[in-house]
Amino acid sequence: MHPLEALKINPFILAPMAGITDHAFRHLMRKLGSSVVVTELVSANGIEYTSERTFKLMSFDESQRPIGIQLFGEDPEVLGRAAQVVQEKGADFVDLNFGCPVPKVVKKGAGSAMLKDPVQFEKVLTAVKKAVEIPVTIKIRTGWDANTRNAVEICKIAENCGMTWVAIHGRTRAQGYSGFADWDFITDVKSKVNIPLIGNGDIHTSEQAVQRLRNSGCDGVMIGRGSLKNPLIFKEALKLFQESSAYPVQTKWDPSVEAISSYGDIIRELHLCLEKYAEPHIIPLQLKKFAAWFSSGFPGASQFRKNIFQTQEKEAILSESLNFFEKLSWQNQADTSQEGFLMGGHG
Ligand SMILES: Cc1cc2nc3c(=O)[nH]c(=O)nc-3n(C[C@H](O)[C@H](O)[C@H](O)COP(=O)(O)O)c2cc1C
Repeated sequence: MHPLEALKINPFILAPMAGITDHAFRHLMRKLGSSVVVTELVSANGIEYTSERTFKLMSFDESQRPIGIQLFGEDPEVLGRAAQVVQEKGADFVDLNFGCPVPKVVKKGAGSAMLKDPVQFEKVLTAVKKAVEIPVTIKIRTGWDANTRNAVEICKIAENCGMTWVAIHGRTRAQGYSGFADWDFITDVKSKVNIPLIGNGDIHTSEQAVQRLRNSGCDGVMIGRGSLKNPLIFKEALKLFQESSAYPVQTKWDPSVEAISSYGDIIRELHLCLEKYAEPHIIPLQLKKFAAWFSSGFPGASQFRKNIFQTQEKEAILSESLNFFEKLSWQNQADTSQEGFLMGGHG
């Protein structure tokens, strides 16, 4: 399915997160209602040097479609060739990262640094668009810093270059992950551009997801960290959205998503996904990491986290987690959205 078609049916998308949205987690989140998924950022130079690690980051299977592979780099030709590799791998779309604030990346002019150089930005988009037939999407920040929030200009260039959508994280590069995503700014950008716009930043609940979508007028919203505290956020948001009379309902609620409805089920499913897709040596750590995040705000979470981080055996982590999550009552998750959480990343 074309990613834009998927967005029209379901406007809630999992945000790419390096080290998190791997093969296993993408599979789980597609199953739990994210309309499309995108890999973490992949180096175009790494593809050029056929790095084995880079190629692993690009692996996916049919269950994840529509799937985009996200590239970063600074050289239009290298990015164009990397996009061709993405197309050969059978991805549904190429996503380009212009949001990464990490010094190692911006020093070379890649990631969010490209927002400072609209001429180079246009060259990159033109080269990538010319190189492939599959759709090309981009992910940006509002601008480099408070004085140069040029997202409207960037979106207009993206539209002229034939991009399929722009996803915008509502912070500047200078902000990193501090402060709040500026949804008034996102709303303003949406009102001034024609290209489909996906808003992103600080969505913690399904209610917020639907409100942000409605108030900003965006064509979709992307949720990153919120899905780590509530992995059911896509499922809940889609249901709320479809039940909301303010929106035309384009599809019926997908009952296969309904099947997974408790954290216990999610932990079991996550475990299966990790067994299937992750390298054996990282399974215990991944299981601990996700279980710890999912436990946020539940009574006894800090003791639970201590217990699993002292445990090395996969089976013991699984049973400890099931023991914790199966006793939980849904309603008992406290709001922890004001606590700093994963304040660093590549977009
Ligand atoms: C740990 C981490 C890794 C990230 N990696 C990427 C990435 O590879 N590519 C990207 O475009 N954005 C990346 N991001 C940014 C997210 O996609 C998103 O824009 C940001 O977290 C704000 O959304 P949220 O508040 O819903 O998490 C990352 C964020 C985090 C926290």
